[in-house]
Amino acid sequence: MSIEKEIQRIREEIRKHDYNYYVKNQPEISDFEYDRLMRELRDLENKFPELITPETPTQRVSGEPVDGFESVEHSVPMLSMDNTYSFDDLQDFDKRVRDTLDILQVEYVVELKFDGLAIALQYENKNFVRGATRGNGTTGDDVTHNLRTINSLPLKLNSDAPDELIEIRGEVYMPKKSFERINTEREENEENLFANPRNAAAGSLKTLDPRVTAKRGLGVFCYGAASDYGFKTHAELLENLKSWGLPVSSPVKICNGIEEVMSYCNEWIDKRHNLPFETDGMVIKVNSFSEQKTLGATAKYPRWAISYKFPAEQAVTKLENVEFQVGRTGHITPVAHFQSVHLAGTTVSRATLHNFDEIARKDIREGDYIVVEKAGEVIPYVVKSLSEKRTGDEKIIKEPEKCPACDGPVNRYKDSAFLVCENQGCPALVKKSIVHFASRNAMDIEGLGPATVDQLVESEFLKDYGDLYFLEKNRLLGLDRMAEKSVENLLLGIEKSKSQPLFRLVNALGIRNVGEATARSLAKEFGTIEKLSNATLEELQEVSDIGPEVAESFFSFFRNPSNEKVLHKLDEAGVNFGDKDAATDESEVPQLLAGKKFVLTGSLPGISRPDASEIIRKFGGSVSGSVSKKTDYVLAGEEVGSKADKAEQLGVEIISWEEFLELTADIERTKRTKQTKQTKRTDGTDGDSLRQDLLF
Ligand code: IVH
Repeated sequence: MSIEKEIQRIREEIRKHDYNYYVKNQPEISDFEYDRLMRELRDLENKFPELITPETPTQRVSGEPVDGFESVEHSVPMLSMDNTYSFDDLQDFDKRVRDTLDILQVEYVVELKFDGLAIALQYENKNFVRGATRGNGTTGDDVTHNLRTINSLPLKLNSDAPDELIEIRGEVYMPKKSFERINTEREENEENLFANPRNAAAGSLKTLDPRVTAKRGLGVFCYGAASDYGFKTHAELLENLKSWGLPVSSPVKICNGIEEVMSYCNEWIDKRHNLPFETDGMVIKVNSFSEQKTLGATAKYPRWAISYKFPAEQAVTKLENVEFQVGRTGHITPVAHFQSVHLAGTTVSRATLHNFDEIARKDIREGDYIVVEKAGEVIPYVVKSLSEKRTGDEKIIKEPEKCPACDGPVNRYKDSAFLVCENQGCPALVKKSIVHFASRNAMDIEGLGPATVDQLVESEFLKDYGDLYFLEKNRLLGLDRMAEKSVENLLLGIEKSKSQPLFRLVNALGIRNVGEATARSLAKEFGTIEKLSNATLEELQEVSDIGPEVAESFFSFFRNPSNEKVLHKLDEAGVNFGDKDAATDESEVPQLLAGKKFVLTGSLPGISRPDASEIIRKFGGSVSGSVSKKTDYVLAGEEVGSKADKAEQLGVEIISWEEFLELTADIERTKRTKQTKQTKRTDGTDGDSLRQDLLF
């Protein structure tokens, strides 16, 4: 078979699996097998770059950020939709429709209302050619590059799709899982959290850098088109969109008359919490396209559709107290603790109040009855206080005059709603910065979690993370809960961290606005701490991803005398500042398991569980002790226990060590061709040589 045909075959195969996964919801192969197909294609395309086309599944993320968005005028306006919270209004809507059409009963299609942002997708010759946001309904932004990164959006339609230019309408959304992951990352980096998945989806699609969008795990659902394309009903159109390869959400029901519509809406009021994405209501559409045409539209809304919004999940509870938390960069955040309440499927008892302006604006007082809502039904949020329920015993929440952790001075900068502790030695700050320094994405020091850091800071062994490298075994043994073995492990973990690659150190320093991705770019560009610390603001900003704000905080970090002191300690201890052989740089190992969560169970053939965990981490995956819905794979050996049962119950994929090796064997091969020193590996089950190769 010619190379071209072979490439074509793999592309078709991948498209078929995308279709099975995203449209039919019936995957036929495991993620591993899918990843392998992608790699096979990527390898071939790397060898024959002239055969790369825009539609190939490997070309979702284009290289560079764009300068701005082009405007797109919509061929058919993207209208908005009338909405209501009441069934009475739905009955009025139905009456208007029946009167206009002069019929007794209307056939409706009822769908979920996706809580994201509307988009128009154009396909020509079955290829995805352009995508735009709704904008003001007449003109939107061209976000083609960002849309291409969404895995559920087909870059090429199936063979039964028309060849002419077609325009599909749909919604880009952020699944709850992606939303939680991104907010956790943002919390760790002390960036503002997204209030709900809709804002997160909008923020992620309207960024100038497609690489950012690609990491956000967005999804898309198609729910209509700019024309009827010859179909008689909306339901028929949806069926065809699906067969063309477009993702259409499956809960769609044809209802005869408004009574059926209302009972279907009722069904979803609770059921929606089990969906993997947010929905804030249902959309009711007249099924027949000719009836839709008769009904027409107002300037804003079509008269053939209405959305029924679910009642917001709220609860009233009592605010017991407000705690002030000091973050790694010194920000002081007020956090409300209230009597626990059940909301949208979980029990909540605390919520951030964000900042002091927000408290003042909402006039929230300690002891108040407050209304709590789950914003986007994920993050608890204090909506308001009920001043009519006050007894007079409530206390006004005052801004702390001193840092709650160290009694040091606090500052509020001009135009900022945040209070900041200015004391670099503040124990809260010190503890958080050391925990960050040691964390998995930074220096990855095993055995140094928050509890140990608390203990070491409180007993004055650590004033900053530089002190870690000067801890002495004998002195540590004198502390509570510090047995010989744990001290040895801790010191070993610290010692090992000295040879971490530069980007990890840059991330570990805890520079404001500098997260893992920025640290990687900077380390790659400058190569050593010395060069990084001497870089000018202009030089820093020349690095892609780095804007003036990031450059400024990076630049000033190296000009702060207390940071200079800490860096000196790290240098003296022999921490890799980039000028040593970065033999352990993971960037050498393809981060193929990035974001994948593993749980190990049973005894694995020829390899210990800690060693297997290490390999998974090298590939960018993570390992945890217990199986949950968030687990991607359970790696099972012999004599598995309850973890495998739990995995089965939760539908988590269970794989054997051999299956894991099949995947890693490919990686090893690629890696080995790069190495001058060849290590012998006889067959795919030899875990030890694989481990040696990967570990060093
Ligand atoms: S149909 C003319 N169907 O809701 C309206 N819209 O509030 C045609 N939306 O801008 C839209 N899910 O972004 C339709 N199943 C669904 C929808 C949906 C969410 C959004 C859409 C629209 C907004 C109006």
